[in-house]
Amino acid sequence: MRPLGVKKIDNSLVINGYSFNDLKKKYKTPLYIMDKKQLYKNINDILNNFQSTLFNTHTIYASKALLNYKMLEICQEFKMGVDAVSLGDLYIIHQYGFDMKQVVFHGNNKSEEELSYAISNGVGIIVVDNLLELELIDELTKKMNQEVEIMIRINPHIDAHTHDYISTAKVASKFGISIDDIKTMEDIISIVRHNELIKFTGLHMHIGSSIFDFDIYYDAILKIVDFINFLNNDYHISLTKLNIGGGFGVPYTKNDKVVKIGEYMEHIITYLEDAICTTNSLISDVYIEPGRSIVATAGMTLYTASQIKHTEVKDYLFIDGGMTDNIRKALYNAEYTMEVVNKVDNEKEIKVDVVGGCCESGDIIIEDALIPNIDRGDLVVVYTTGAYNYSMFSNYNSHLKPAMILVGDEIELVSKREELKDLIRLFK
Ligand code: LLP
Repeated sequence: MRPLGVKKIDNSLVINGYSFNDLKKKYKTPLYIMDKKQLYKNINDILNNFQSTLFNTHTIYASKALLNYKMLEICQEFKMGVDAVSLGDLYIIHQYGFDMKQVVFHGNNKSEEELSYAISNGVGIIVVDNLLELELIDELTKKMNQEVEIMIRINPHIDAHTHDYISTAKVASKFGISIDDIKTMEDIISIVRHNELIKFTGLHMHIGSSIFDFDIYYDAILKIVDFINFLNNDYHISLTKLNIGGGFGVPYTKNDKVVKIGEYMEHIITYLEDAICTTNSLISDVYIEPGRSIVATAGMTLYTASQIKHTEVKDYLFIDGGMTDNIRKALYNAEYTMEVVNKVDNEKEIKVDVVGGCCESGDIIIEDALIPNIDRGDLVVVYTTGAYNYSMFSNYNSHLKPAMILVGDEIELVSKREELKDLIRLFK
C-alpha cells in the first residue's frame, strides 16, 4: 500500500528521501502528506489511457476528493477541468483564478445564490439534477441575460455494488432524473426549447464510488447511450456529450482487488466505443470525473503514537489523530493499512485497534491491526488517505486541522496547520 515515493531504508521508512521524523518536527502531527510521484503517476495513467479516436475525451477532477490551490494548479498543469458542488467550492476555484469555463457544477439541491454565482462567473457546464433546478436556471439566465451550458443528470438504475452511502444510481437514489421518467424529460426539453440562452448538450451519470467491477459501467454506459439516442431521435434534439462521472475504485488493503487505473480506463474506453459505434450515436465528447483514483493512493497521514492500552478483551493503540482527520472508518467501515515508520521489519505480534482521542468509541482508524511493540513517540503512517480525508475533516472536540504537504524532490506546504486561535475566529 506504500505509495511510489515511500521506501524502506534499513528498518525505517522515508518519503522521496525525506525522513518522516524531520517532517513531524517541522509540520507536527497529524500531518497529511501527498507523494508527488504517485499523484503524477495516477494522473498520467488516467490521461494517457482515457483516449479515443472516436470521440474527444475530457477529464474533470472531482475536487470533492481533495480541494486546495495546489490541486487546482496541478489540474491546470495537466489541462484537466474540475467539478464543484457548492458555493464554497466555486468560491475557492474562482479565487484561485482557475478558468471557470473548465468547471462542471454539480449538486442535487443547488440554491439560487449558487446558481447565480455559477452563471455570472461563466461556469462551463451546470449538471442539472431536477426540474425545479432547471426552472430556476431558466429564470436566472433570462434575468441575467447570460448563456449557460447544461447537462442533465440521469439515474440509470444500476447497482454499483458498493457501500450504500456511496451508491448513487439505485432506483431510490436522491440524485438525478430516473431514466424511466419520460414525462420530466419532456418538460425539460420544452423549457430549453423556449430559452435559447440554455444550451442543452448532453447527459450525465455517476453510479457510485469505490467501484471495482468494470462491467457495471458497461451496463450503465449502454443504457445511457441508448437513452441519448432515443432522445435525439424521438425529440429531434442533438445531444452530443456524455459524462459518465467517476467512481473508479482503488485498493486500500491487500484484500482489495488491485485495479490498475490505466487498465480501468482502457475498459471504459472499450465500453464507450462499443456502445457509441454499434448504435451510431451522435456522441462526440465524453467526460469522466475521477476523484479518488487521482488522489487516494498518493496520500498518507502521519501520526504520533503514545501507548498501547490493554483492556481485558482488547488492546488499543492511541494516536494523535483519528475520526476528525479520517471519518471514513466511522462512516463507511472503510479499511486502511498502516506501518510504524521506524519499526518496519519488527515482529508484528500485537493486535490492536488504532484509535484517536475523541469522545466517541467509533473514533477508530483501523480495527485489528497487527503491529510491533510501540514506544511513546513512535510515528505511524496510514496509507491511502489522499481522498475524502482532508475534505471531510471536522473540528469535533476542537481538534485542529492538520497541515498538508506535497513531497517530491522538494517539500511544498499545501495547506497550513490550523492554530488554536482559528478555533475562536467565528465566535462573538
Ligand atoms: N462525480 C460525481 C457527480 C460525484 O458525486 C463523485 C463523488 C465523483 C464524480 C467522484 O467519485 P470518485 O472518483 O472519487 O469515486 N465520501 C465518500 C465518497 C463520496 C463520493 C461522492 N461523489 C468516501 O469517502 O468514500
